[in-house]
Amino acid sequence: MIGGSLAAALKSSGYDGRILACDPNVEEIAVGLEMGVIDDGGRDLAALVAQSGLVVVAVPVLAMRRVFEQLAPVLGERVLTDVGSTKRRVCEAAREAFGRLPANFVPGHPIAGSEKSGVAAANPALYRHHKVILTPEADTTPTAVAVVRGLWQRCGAEVLEMPVDRHDQVLARTSHLPHLLAFSLVDTLARQDERLDIFRYAAGGFRDFTRIAGSDPVMWRDIFTANRDALLDALDDFETGLGRLRAAVEQGDSDAMLGTFDRASHARHYFETLLNQTSYQTMEARQVQYRVSPGGSVKGRIRVPGDKSISHRSIMLGALANGVTEVKGFLEGEDSLATLQAFRDMGVAIEGPHQGRVTIHGVGLHGLKKPAGPIYVGNSGTAMRLFAGLLAGQAFDTELTGDASLTKRPMARVADPLRLMGARIDTAEGGRPPLRIHGGQPLKGIHYDMPMASAQVKSCLLLAGLYAEGETRVREPAPTRDHTERMLNGFGYKVDRDGDLATLQGGGELTSAPIDVPSDISSATFFLVAAAITPGSDLVLEHVGVNPTRIGVINILKAMGADLRLENPREVGGEPVADLHIRYAPLKGIDIPVDQVPLAIDEFPALFVAAANAEGTTRLRGAEELRVKESDRIQAMADGLDILGVETTVYDDGIDVVGKSGDGPSYQGGQVDSLGDHRIAMAFTVAALRADGPIAIDDCANVATSFPGFVALANKVGLELTEVSA
Ligand code: S3P
Repeated sequence: MIGGSLAAALKSSGYDGRILACDPNVEEIAVGLEMGVIDDGGRDLAALVAQSGLVVVAVPVLAMRRVFEQLAPVLGERVLTDVGSTKRRVCEAAREAFGRLPANFVPGHPIAGSEKSGVAAANPALYRHHKVILTPEADTTPTAVAVVRGLWQRCGAEVLEMPVDRHDQVLARTSHLPHLLAFSLVDTLARQDERLDIFRYAAGGFRDFTRIAGSDPVMWRDIFTANRDALLDALDDFETGLGRLRAAVEQGDSDAMLGTFDRASHARHYFETLLNQTSYQTMEARQVQYRVSPGGSVKGRIRVPGDKSISHRSIMLGALANGVTEVKGFLEGEDSLATLQAFRDMGVAIEGPHQGRVTIHGVGLHGLKKPAGPIYVGNSGTAMRLFAGLLAGQAFDTELTGDASLTKRPMARVADPLRLMGARIDTAEGGRPPLRIHGGQPLKGIHYDMPMASAQVKSCLLLAGLYAEGETRVREPAPTRDHTERMLNGFGYKVDRDGDLATLQGGGELTSAPIDVPSDISSATFFLVAAAITPGSDLVLEHVGVNPTRIGVINILKAMGADLRLENPREVGGEPVADLHIRYAPLKGIDIPVDQVPLAIDEFPALFVAAANAEGTTRLRGAEELRVKESDRIQAMADGLDILGVETTVYDDGIDVVGKSGDGPSYQGGQVDSLGDHRIAMAFTVAALRADGPIAIDDCANVATSFPGFVALANKVGLELTEVSA
């Protein structure tokens, strides 16, 4: 089935080479030929290999050794790969059969399958949007890796690399253990009732839990044998957990049970959102490192994903509107998907996302239902703060939680003014998440002078204001992004703007309207800076949102001397959009105007990299908000720049960066830590263009929160970036 599906996927991708199959069972070959997934086949492996350029071994893990032995005398320089579910054992088998691990052998494992076997079950879509893990060794030939990578990418899979042992541990937990449990549960019940009568009474829960016990017994015996040690470790952990739960049930310890179930239910919901995107994610914290080669230039025409701020708001307002909202260009990043899932959990029917299209069946301002558990908003401060406002107005209680980074971020800035409106909100110590929001509180409008220039606080209060009696008035000390106001107006809900004051009247209604999400200028920034600092660059970024409250980065780069033009300006769905055309020009250091700070607030990590490549000193002040973003972005960037040998001076509210321009490298390479902050990770990625050695960046998994597909797009325009799972 796995091999047949690969052949079927290649055929349906338009692959025009010949696909030959070898199987001891000639009937399987006949079925494959009849289905048109192979061109020829038979039982004579040597004869078939002689006609091939690439050999894929798709047999049970313990049968690999025999096949490798037959291959050893005939393989030659051909590229070899396999699809086995455990990698250490397969590598050992290859070593034994070939006398060493062949340099043209690229061990592989597609994370996809079904409980069916045989070519008749071949499915050309099996690998689409699924992950394939390759586990090459240091001396595996890079061209062989590229061939196997290309093979799977052709089938629509996402390919990543991992060390062999890490692969086996992760799979033991996420795949092998659940299969073992399913087999065991079904067998235990079957033994207790030899006539199998008991299954008559089993319903959906049993069926869902045990589906995989119908899988191929030989294959799974092989996998459990081959991955014995990692599986036993996983089983030990599981038994400990089961013991804890057993004790809780025995002692009637309701808190312990609820604690476990809440955590699990919550994790399962989160997993479900990830499942909508891809078939597989490890439930452990993903450790991803970027490795970027120095040099190169940046060329082409690209479109970066949809705006994160607008994507969050499109789901929120769409859900609260009357009628159906169609969204185009939605950002399918982890954060905005978490927001989408949260509304599903509150009873809103949402279709998609399918290639950026989402259809939201709005339930009206008072139509949300109490979610079964806490609402998990991942890494997103925007989601937590905007949710706080709209949940304060609901009739039911809710709890808002997030990941480790979000749990450190200040929430009193929204909880305090919401309390002034009459909301009841509990926070953890120091005003940190989680937030417990008590429903059923009548809200009243207030006039609030924000102590900081924050679009999140403004938006939170305006959303609470929809539910408040009277007028809610928010004054901002400096202009901040106004997507909430624009979108509310687009949904027929009047927000008045008088200078620095935004006002709305509670008690109205939202009417659905189509939303076209432009590309995110904050994501485009990494490529703007990449082109701005690299001689020979010429890049167009299409369809970028250029709302005047977001274009600080354009103003600052231009002031530094960047050759940056806005082409084809237009308006889509109430937001201005343009194509950004940037060519290399030498940059100079500047004093960043304070009024530009809120307009470029997310762009500073990348702008500091621009500063490191600008002649002279760039000075930033009035940016203390950077210290409470996904990381302390002033310190995180200063630490990383220091490793590259760039001189910086850190201030409470800013930084000086001493840069240099010219044709040679601007700094050295090195290993930096992104601290799990997506924008720090991407900023140091583009820094490598002007380094004199490679840059390795740790802890990059969170790039997926705002910029899915970053690695592919960076490589497309000319960076040399690989993603490695540690
Ligand atoms: C955002 C506002 C900004 C920004 C964040 C998104 C928004 O935060 O940093 O990435 O969508 O409203 P603050 O409002 O805290 O400045």
